Amino acid sequence: SGFLSLLRNGLSKLGVPREFLGFLSKWTDDPEENPKIPEAKGAIKAIRGQAFFIPLYELYLTYGGIFRLTFGPKSFLIVSDPSIAKHILRDNSKAYSKGILAEILDFVMGKGLIPADGEIWRVRRRAIIPALHQKYVAAMISLFGQAADRLCKKLDAAASDGEDVEMESLFSRLTLDIIGKAVFNYDFDSLTNDTGIVEAVYTVLREAEDRSVSPIPFWDIPIWKDLSPRQKKVRVALKLINNTLDDLIAICKRMVEKEDLQFHEEYMNEQDPSILHFLLASGDDVSSKQLRDDLMTMLIAGHETSAAVLTWTFYLLSKNPSVMSKLQNEVDSVLGDRVPTIDDMKKLKYATRVINESLRLYPQPPVLIRRSLEDDMLGKYPIKRGEDIFISVWNLHRCPNHWTDAEKFNPERWPLDGPNPNEINQNFSYLPFGGGPRKCVGDMFASFETVVVLAMLARHFNFQIAPGSPPVEMTTGATIHTTEGLRMTVTRRIKPPIIPTLERSVVEVDGNNPLKEPS
Ligand code: HEM
Repeated sequence: SGFLSLLRNGLSKLGVPREFLGFLSKWTDDPEENPKIPEAKGAIKAIRGQAFFIPLYELYLTYGGIFRLTFGPKSFLIVSDPSIAKHILRDNSKAYSKGILAEILDFVMGKGLIPADGEIWRVRRRAIIPALHQKYVAAMISLFGQAADRLCKKLDAAASDGEDVEMESLFSRLTLDIIGKAVFNYDFDSLTNDTGIVEAVYTVLREAEDRSVSPIPFWDIPIWKDLSPRQKKVRVALKLINNTLDDLIAICKRMVEKEDLQFHEEYMNEQDPSILHFLLASGDDVSSKQLRDDLMTMLIAGHETSAAVLTWTFYLLSKNPSVMSKLQNEVDSVLGDRVPTIDDMKKLKYATRVINESLRLYPQPPVLIRRSLEDDMLGKYPIKRGEDIFISVWNLHRCPNHWTDAEKFNPERWPLDGPNPNEINQNFSYLPFGGGPRKCVGDMFASFETVVVLAMLARHFNFQIAPGSPPVEMTTGATIHTTEGLRMTVTRRIKPPIIPTLERSVVEVDGNNPLKEPS
């Protein structure tokens, strides 16, 4: 085997093509040098009929941090090992594209930032990142507060009427309202209304999710795709959304032209702080199709993900009442009756840990998709160009060797005075927002959004699974959904009267302690 590798290295230095060297190694087929990736055989049966990332967890326990899953002519590599994930996402990210994901999402996101690869991605990422600057995110906090307040009013009415509520769809509407304002200054107002545009957004989202779990690309079949009523509905919805986006772009262009514009790093228009306004004001030189693709991408990326995080967080809280009361204590003492501000984000430490831990148990999306653009080594295994790869964040986040009581919802696993857990300080065992150059651009936005909503809801209400509702089970599109919604009974909290105690005033005046002798 030593000789063969010498021979291969020698030939490669002489410029012998890689294809031939590949052939040579195949021909010699030395198991020592070319260990084969374990193959999960006959596993396909286990995969069908449930959220596919769940059986992948069982297979991971059997086959390890990387294995191959074969479906007829197709095969996928399933990665659940942090160092391999780090290699693909960060250290050798140039060798990987979005693969199948880009193909599936093409009809809705085109060449938007999530599916785009190569030069287009590089240019668009460079244009968009500055739009999410500190001052913008800080301004968004009051938007989150207003939207959460609207939801609180709805929940309050339900509490009065003694009606149960379906929280998953309410969170979906809440985050749609937020992201519409945040990205292109459009008020979907979906918490109150069901307009055509809201329905169109949901038609397109549902289609994207169905396509991502469908084994056959039925939407590509000639003739059928033109005749199918469902595909027609999707086309009509897309047209409505595209026209709306074009109108919004035109309106925003006019605003920017009228503005006495002084563009700078933390530029923000107070009337319209949206990402679209920033992009146009920055002179972003881009086709309207590309701009629309990017807006659409951010709309979808920032909507379903945050909604899913909130849904599973409230599910987890309903199962863990002691976490809920600890959270409520924190919110009472930090916020009192105020609406959260940017300064509160640092203080709502436990609320942040609750979100961190919810994202560990229910990562959104549960798998990241890549395709190799060249031959590479994953751990000790050589792989070819063109491999489709699923990085199972679900498996990374639930690895029994890495996490103590991996299945337990335990926000205390990260100390309150320590750093916020992220992919870097957890060495790619925890990657709620991905990692490397394609990491989420909205991570700060999303963290604050979910913390604000969590804090405001927990301050006013208690949440229980509605009696008699079906068990809450998972299904998957791009994010983890419930199969039958999250039906909850919402009750107003009875707030304890605020009695100023000695201890309390000492804590509160911090730094100006009235009990201390004046010096
Ligand atoms: C990418 C998660 C909210 C915009 C990603 C990725 C993850 C993620 C895991 C990496 C995907 C990959 O590597 O294949 C989340 C979660 C969110 C959230 C869990 C909410 C809790 C948002 C928001 C926005 C956003 C609010 C927009 C303002 C994006 C974009 C990308 C991305 C544009 C693609 C970045 C690129 O490829 O360069 N997100 N995200 N996300 N996210 Fe988020």
